[in-house]
Amino acid sequence: MKQITIEGGHILSGEIKISGAKNSAVALVPASLLSDEIITIDNIPNISDIDALNEILSYLGAKVTRNNETMTIDSSNIINKKIPENISKKLRASYYFMGALLGKYKHVEMYFPGGCSIGARPINLHLKAFALLGAKIEEKDNLFIIDAQELKGNHIYFDVPSVGATINVLLAACKAEGITILENAAKEPEIVNVATFLNNMGAKITGAGTSTIKIKGVKKLGKCFMEVIPDRIEAGTYVIAGALMGNNLTIKNVIPEHIESLTLKLKEMGCPIKIGEDYITISACSNLKPISVKTQGYPGFPTDLQQPLTTLLVTANGRSTLEENIYENRFQNVPYLNKMGADIEIDKRKIYINGPKELNGTLVKATDLRAGACLVLAGLKANGKTTITEVEHVLRGYENIIAKLTNVGAKITLEEI
Ligand code: EPZ
Repeated sequence: MKQITIEGGHILSGEIKISGAKNSAVALVPASLLSDEIITIDNIPNISDIDALNEILSYLGAKVTRNNETMTIDSSNIINKKIPENISKKLRASYYFMGALLGKYKHVEMYFPGGCSIGARPINLHLKAFALLGAKIEEKDNLFIIDAQELKGNHIYFDVPSVGATINVLLAACKAEGITILENAAKEPEIVNVATFLNNMGAKITGAGTSTIKIKGVKKLGKCFMEVIPDRIEAGTYVIAGALMGNNLTIKNVIPEHIESLTLKLKEMGCPIKIGEDYITISACSNLKPISVKTQGYPGFPTDLQQPLTTLLVTANGRSTLEENIYENRFQNVPYLNKMGADIEIDKRKIYINGPKELNGTLVKATDLRAGACLVLAGLKANGKTTITEVEHVLRGYENIIAKLTNVGAKITLEEI
């Protein structure tokens, strides 16, 4: 097991460069197998989720080479066989192999995906879409066998705008017969990144980034080169670190409009923030105003920044409210923040953060990826030493987090225990 130890109170200044977006890269890598030729993807983050996906690709017989952030994938000799549970369980995004293998071979056998314990995380919308495209779905002891004589375009409507299900429709429908219209699609930037990737291979997708996407099936998908967009959630996490402990901390390689919902909220709190073309510079300040935030799908306030923002709200002068509308169990960080000295009440989907409170270092645990990020931020701010156990959760989504924070002045170490 790995743990992170942080000596709090150190000012952060200098530059942090943002890596490629985890939630885009974890879709682009499985999507590569839809091509019959070699695919090159640049700006891939070096995180354990990508390693897990490469394990699945290699298990299927794809040839994967990695040169720093550049990955090439040759799927010409893939054998479409059942993906074992022990590897598909490692991450939620393994479900993109459902859409990709179904889209290419009209058949896929794999187990229910893994993922953080932040809610039930069903895949009913994914399966509903596959069935509407003509697939027959059997499920036995968490093993899904999805099979189609042929895949035909259809009119699909999502009850909730699901990011994963939206991307899986792109993967399953891009080689289907005819036209697919997807209504109430999610609009996240990662979806646009995947649609552009598929179009570069020769797919015909329009409307990605809006709530209605049209996919005209094509026969063949060829080679292409694609760059992963910057990770807006990693960027937001470090911007919040700057609001807590920064002295002109600059977060580089950012697409500012991707985190506008956060930066507007930070301005509302009174944070001194400068927004450049591809960077954000931010400093800490003491008298922050309390705010109220509701998480929503893009372009609303992202659920993935709800837990990191909670740490900042602990320091605000008054009572803030945070409403989590996407997941039913995304407040597991709260008891640990309270153990550090925060005063946060949970009431169903809402938390009330009574500030300002001092945080004191102690032993805490990362329960999920973004809860872990929240506790790293708390450790940077806290008096004394904070130890965070089970940080494998954090390393899944934050490339080189120890080096990135150390380089701007944090006293942070990673230990194997
Ligand atoms: C993606 O998860 C991200 N993960 C999540 O990031 C992110 O929080 C989420 O989108 C929302 O933005 C990846 O991209 C790998 P959803 P996903 O389908 O696709 C319900 C992180 O921290 N739903 O948009 O699984 C679901 O339960 C992770 O990086 C159904 O009901 O999320 C949730 O309440 C955490 N049925 C809501 O929709 C379905 O078939 C949104 O989920 C699918 C989803």
